[in-house]
Amino acid sequence: MTDTLDPRIPAGDAHKLDAGEHIGSNPSAEPSIGDLIERRLSRRGALRGLLGAAALAALPGEAEAQASGPSSFAFRELNHVYDATHHVPEGYEAQVLLRWGDPILPGAPAFNVNSLSGEGQARQFGYNCDYIDYKPLPQGSRNSAHGLLVVNHEYTNTNLMFAGMGAGRGAALRSSAAQVAVEMAAHGVAVVEIRKTGGQWQVVADGRMNRRLTADTPMTVSGPAAGHELLKTSADPTGRAVLGTINNCAGGDTPWGTVLTAEENFNMYFAGDTSRSPNAEMYKRYGVGPQSVYGWSNHVARFDLAKEPNEPHRFGWIVEFDPYDPASVPVKRTALGRFKHEGCHHGIAADGRVVIYMGDDERFDYVYKFVTARAWNPNDRAANRDLLDEGTLYVARFTDDGKLAWLPLVHGQGPLTEANGFRSQGDVMIFTRKAADLLKATPMDRPEDVEPNPVTGRVYVLLTNNTSRRSEQVDRANPRARNAHGHIIEMINPNNDHAALEGTWNMFLAAGKPGIDAGVVYHRAVSNSGWLSCPDNVAFDSRGRMYIATDGAPTAAGVADGVYVTDTAGPGRGLTRLFFQAPTGAEVCGPLLTPDDQTMFLAIQHPGEDPGSTFETPSTRWPDFQAGMPPRPSVIAITKKGGGPIGG
Ligand code: FEO
Ligand code: CA
Ligand code: CA
Ligand code: CA
Repeated sequence: MTDTLDPRIPAGDAHKLDAGEHIGSNPSAEPSIGDLIERRLSRRGALRGLLGAAALAALPGEAEAQASGPSSFAFRELNHVYDATHHVPEGYEAQVLLRWGDPILPGAPAFNVNSLSGEGQARQFGYNCDYIDYKPLPQGSRNSAHGLLVVNHEYTNTNLMFAGMGAGRGAALRSSAAQVAVEMAAHGVAVVEIRKTGGQWQVVADGRMNRRLTADTPMTVSGPAAGHELLKTSADPTGRAVLGTINNCAGGDTPWGTVLTAEENFNMYFAGDTSRSPNAEMYKRYGVGPQSVYGWSNHVARFDLAKEPNEPHRFGWIVEFDPYDPASVPVKRTALGRFKHEGCHHGIAADGRVVIYMGDDERFDYVYKFVTARAWNPNDRAANRDLLDEGTLYVARFTDDGKLAWLPLVHGQGPLTEANGFRSQGDVMIFTRKAADLLKATPMDRPEDVEPNPVTGRVYVLLTNNTSRRSEQVDRANPRARNAHGHIIEMINPNNDHAALEGTWNMFLAAGKPGIDAGVVYHRAVSNSGWLSCPDNVAFDSRGRMYIATDGAPTAAGVADGVYVTDTAGPGRGLTRLFFQAPTGAEVCGPLLTPDDQTMFLAIQHPGEDPGSTFETPSTRWPDFQAGMPPRPSVIAITKKGGGPIGG
């Protein structure tokens, strides 16, 4: 999300880059390899040490560079634009496939924006789509024309869903009980069967596997924190049965075909004073209380911290579920830690263990990976059912020599002892952030997707921005103070073994406008419209080429959020090109290509989320453009006219 949700940000400032971000809560003073570097090297020198010759050529003012080879992409690049609708390159078409409110379950009412109900919404496509996965049908095939689309619904914009709520985020605090029921049902995940015929995608409205997960869907808890005292509530004395998943931002999947949905800013839904709790410091570290961004606690007791202080400990997890089995109960996998989870993409280690890379999206928070204890079994799907319950969670330390170390979050090891408040592995998992602070992980510029390139095995960390980083806090992995535009780090495992505990890293890209912003890193041939800002989600095609979706474009400069493509190897490495532009107010999420690379699905999240935008007078009515209809977050499918792989 754009992170304009914090009520502490004045409405009028909500769209400024600096204000439109999380308020970081990591008190760590740890960074400070940056101090050393600042003393020893100029920032330019620091970059020089990290970059290969091709990237160095992109540094402003660098003299002669090597000849820039062409990008492997063959489409005519868009020009930057910022307007009411979306844009694809010539020769491509975008179909709006699923809109907020589309009926997807039996008995779902047709969408009527003037008579929403929680019951109806729970059978319709949810709000603010984010992560997208595509699971081919039949299961196990690579069918690119028939499958299940899995879509996260991260959050809701009360002021654009209901009439008479005015502008801005404050509306969410004034929701009635009936409106809260709609909001809760508009959160979660959707599974929708889709089919492509004659080049056009269609929703199978009565698809047998269609499903909605909402903020009320029963789920179980497994792993080291299951049954922990801090997970017990009056409704659940077992600490193993939770209602719902919320703020599902990005996600990932497993080799056995289940989906992982990531709970990100779960703190925004809880209100109440926790200052006298023995865990007061932990509530603060996670940004829980006293204020809420939503009005849920006024109507639903479990979001009121005075009544249920443990409820927030039951969120902030990775949730695994089987999209192929609509009766399956989703499981919160506590072995993967509790934080503001963004993506969770996997690689397979040399010995068959599964490695899941994750980011904690907050200023100065960390990059993690989880390594399963056992190898996965490709021949027996059921044998992998609880594979994610056993393994080791690691947090990353990036050092100024270009090396990378993965530090284990294991109870009893190093500082993770009772003396520091950790009595069990459950404690370590519930308060992962505190454990990672003690291990002196590297505080990053808001880690969003962390995803391996399936062709090269290199792993990319998208760091969206961090304007709170001061010059004395920079380090080589986060080299810019007041980082408004973000950057992308490339991690390299020795022998491409994802389970390796040491590796190296490079600066792949540093965003911003060449010639204007300091410290940008691109291929030198990047065009006037090829530069980007605020990388967030990423996808790769079957050739290992990268598709970067942005969240937080400098709209004042006439640039909308969009999708930028680049080669990751060869002469076009780092040569980003503009492929897609979103309508005003929207970020672009969930880029995903079908196995044949012929369809790109995109989630257009929070269209019309602009200052002053209201239900009655929104900044855009995308995608319906009908009087009286507010903007609707939607999933679009982009194809090449006449067929063929995306990007050429
Ligand atoms: Fe929901 Fe980190 O974006
Ligand atoms: Ca995101
Ligand atoms: Ca974001
Ligand atoms: Ca991704």
